[in-house]
Amino acid sequence: MPNRPCSHFSVCGGCALLNLPYEEQVAQKRAQLQETLKDFWTADIPVTVTDDPFYFRNKVELGFCHQVKWRDDYNKKDPANKTRPLEFEQALGFKYKGRFDRAVEITDCLIFNEKLPALLAAIRAWAEKENLPYYDQRKHTGILRHLMLREGKNTGEEIVVLFVTDDFNEKTFVAAVESVLPNANIMVAVNNGLADTAAPESLRVLKGKDHIFEKILLSGPDGNTEREVIFQLSPQSFFQTNTKTAQKMYSRVRQVVKKIAPKRIYDLYGGAGSFSLSCADLCEKSICVESVAPAIYNGIENAKLNGVKNVQFFCAKVEDFVKQQPIEKKEALIILDPPRSGMHPKAAKAVAESGVENVLYISCNPVTLAADLKILTQHYKILHVEAFDFFPHTPHIETFVQLKLK
Ligand SMILES: C[S@@+](CC[C@H](N)C(=O)[O-])C[C@H]1O[C@@H](n2cnc3c(N)ncnc32)[C@H](O)[C@@H]1O
Repeated sequence: MPNRPCSHFSVCGGCALLNLPYEEQVAQKRAQLQETLKDFWTADIPVTVTDDPFYFRNKVELGFCHQVKWRDDYNKKDPANKTRPLEFEQALGFKYKGRFDRAVEITDCLIFNEKLPALLAAIRAWAEKENLPYYDQRKHTGILRHLMLREGKNTGEEIVVLFVTDDFNEKTFVAAVESVLPNANIMVAVNNGLADTAAPESLRVLKGKDHIFEKILLSGPDGNTEREVIFQLSPQSFFQTNTKTAQKMYSRVRQVVKKIAPKRIYDLYGGAGSFSLSCADLCEKSICVESVAPAIYNGIENAKLNGVKNVQFFCAKVEDFVKQQPIEKKEALIILDPPRSGMHPKAAKAVAESGVENVLYISCNPVTLAADLKILTQHYKILHVEAFDFFPHTPHIETFVQLKLK
């Protein structure tokens, strides 16, 4: 597949590998993964690719930035530079590579959907007309802060969330969004905190509802869909950002679970219960452990939505859960899907010593996966390793490891 040009490549922090043809990106990531895991696994690691590596992301977060205008002569030792007054500009887009305080004025983007540039243009024109200042990361002034967009790739539903520090004309904002996305749900979030995260103090609906639905289609070995799971996603819900490739991974894990045929699944780092809900029909009970309360609420709602009654949700850190609730090893399966930082060493040790026959580890960071495998392989052998490219044009890759008690 030929690579496609994006006018922001090289400055935008989003797509570091976009200059390489997709096959080459995958080959590079595969070689790197193979190298990182070489102490544990030397056989070839197959990689499931993203079929269409453009417009695959179901969520993006952009920043509004009031910033010093970039000058190409910035670093030159020309004394005249020092006396030139600073000029300022406003930009709406993804962060510059390696900068927290600068955004690239995005007019082109190949990862979310084709309407994104037009939506950003409409919002910029609206902000200018309303005379609304963009946020200054250094001085903590300004009204417009972040823009979050979510799109259900299998449902077509859209939600737009504007993060602000103060009041603004909501009616004209809704009209600006509707000019490009007539059916989108629209929300406003107030965020006056100093941290540069899209974490709101309050959230309010301006149009439609406060969530969208996304579904994953779980296919069997013949490629036919054998189970569908619907997810209700609010602006804060965690959900894999590449729906189409994530559903291939969930399908694959489901097939492995089917063969293992456990009675009880421990879905550790369970988020809103994606693995529990994907495999609920394959076990008597699934126990989903997740530390973020809103994800648990989403999980409970998602279980109801899918008519699933055998998933029990625990809001706890895995390292605390394994200390307080002994893992019942008989006919059990542990699924691990920790964040990029990997497992707490106490949690990895508890799983390693659990005596549960089968463990499946899904990781978005090969480096922390290798650190955790060092502990797990004291008691487990690795049966299989494969990878899924959820993150085209970035160096990241998702890995699935199947382990069995020695
Ligand atoms: C990579 S996500 C996996 C979510 C879920 N399995 C899925 O497929 O959607 C990792 C999850 O672990 C949660 N988490 C992070 N640290 C945790 C901890 N110490 N104990 C429990 N959950 C944790 C995060 O909030 C996040 O939901």
